[in-house]
Amino acid sequence: MSTPIIEALQWRYATKRFDAAKKVSDADIKTLQESVNLAATSYGLQPFRVALITDDETKEKLRVAAYNQPQLTESSHVFVFANKLEVTPEYVDEFIRLVATTRGLDVADVQGYADYIKGSLATQDAAAIQDWTRRQAYIALGTLLATAGELKVDTCPMEGFDPAQVNDILGLPEQGLSACVIATVGYRSEEDQTQHAAKVRLPLADLFL
Ligand SMILES: Cc1cc2nc3c(=O)[nH]c(=O)nc-3n(C[C@H](O)[C@H](O)[C@H](O)COP(=O)(O)O)c2cc1C
Repeated sequence: MSTPIIEALQWRYATKRFDAAKKVSDADIKTLQESVNLAATSYGLQPFRVALITDDETKEKLRVAAYNQPQLTESSHVFVFANKLEVTPEYVDEFIRLVATTRGLDVADVQGYADYIKGSLATQDAAAIQDWTRRQAYIALGTLLATAGELKVDTCPMEGFDPAQVNDILGLPEQGLSACVIATVGYRSEEDQTQHAAKVRLPLADLFL
């Protein structure tokens, strides 16, 4: 089963040590940004934002918040996925206006969809909403990882950080956001022994019921 996407997924691994001297090109970063933007989300609401960090000072601070994991400073770019803390009726209206303008419709044509979304969100408390917005960010994370694999750009998905510290460093709560997962992006160091470890995965027959 060797198709280009399976080869890319075999090639990728959670990179522990990046080569700090190698930077990912603007063109590849743009492709990764496009892939995050094209990820599926529930209703299409995209209820998260992404901070893209390249400056050394912020990367150092993030490394401290991530229990000193070296990927934060050795990688080329750091994508911090931050989920929305609330999804307001105004946010849904904004989304609906985007749907209408993108598809050449009147807002009235899609008002029923807006009302349906708002009604569904109104039944959930803040914790449930945040759990849901966080899950949407993870779909985008997965899309980024697969796309990077195809570009032969290395990544490490990371949850090993203190969200409160990352929120503080990036000023996320003021923007109605909270950091949920990070992708460090760059090129593997020759020293990274993890690249030589065999991939550990279940047999398909165990995974699929
Ligand atoms: C949501 C998530 C969080 C992770 N957090 C970390 C992390 O903080 N540090 C790290 O080195 N690896 C982290 N990993 C990497 C996993 O350990 C790795 O993906 C897993 O062992 C499978 O290996 P592979 O991705 O190399 O195939 C994380 C992976 C995911 C999906």
